[in-house]
Amino acid sequence: MSIQLGDEAPDFTSDTTEGTINFHEYLGDSWGVLFSHPKDFTPVCTTELGTVAKLKGEFDKRNTKVIAISVDPIDSHNGWVPDINETQNTTVNFPIIADPDRKVADLYGMIHPNASDTATVRSVFVIGPDKKVKLTITYPASTGRNFQEILRVIDSLQLTAQYSVATPANWTDGEDVIIVPAVSDEAAKEKFPKGWNAVRPYLRVTPQPNK
Ligand code: BEZ
Repeated sequence: MSIQLGDEAPDFTSDTTEGTINFHEYLGDSWGVLFSHPKDFTPVCTTELGTVAKLKGEFDKRNTKVIAISVDPIDSHNGWVPDINETQNTTVNFPIIADPDRKVADLYGMIHPNASDTATVRSVFVIGPDKKVKLTITYPASTGRNFQEILRVIDSLQLTAQYSVATPANWTDGEDVIIVPAVSDEAAKEKFPKGWNAVRPYLRVTPQPNK
């Protein structure tokens, strides 16, 4: 059974480029992004890990720790990191898990045998401070991820964890949000003092509450 939203993120202890890490301890009270790539020394993966390194400040702002993984061994990761740094003009500033025995890949269902028997697909798991899985996305090996989208989802998850709102299609931080249908108009008057526009009784649009 694959990991589903609301499940506890399985814990593990593994070798990484920053030493042995226990996953839950590493996350502490932070949010987390665990993301797999198919293989070291491959072009798309090289751009992805460089991109995440450049976005580390954005993840930090969101109290979010990132950690990468593939089934390559630690010597391979350590040999590849200087290439990422040089070619992507950055410094890898987050751990990369070495999972040659596929312990973590199997725990998280990151190997999809009909795509590849040996390599992890491009999985993304966003994990909340309660260690529950909040988002899963799977991309094929041939498509590099849009990490701005991962940041956007984290913004939405963090906002909707605090307020009784949901975020509409293509929403980005600072834009109007939707009052969830479970909140009555009566209760909304107190929760959303800026008011709202009822496009339909079930579609009430309000300014982002924390802006
Ligand atoms: C890549 O990172 O470029 C890649 C890895 C595995 C399959 C296809 C592309």
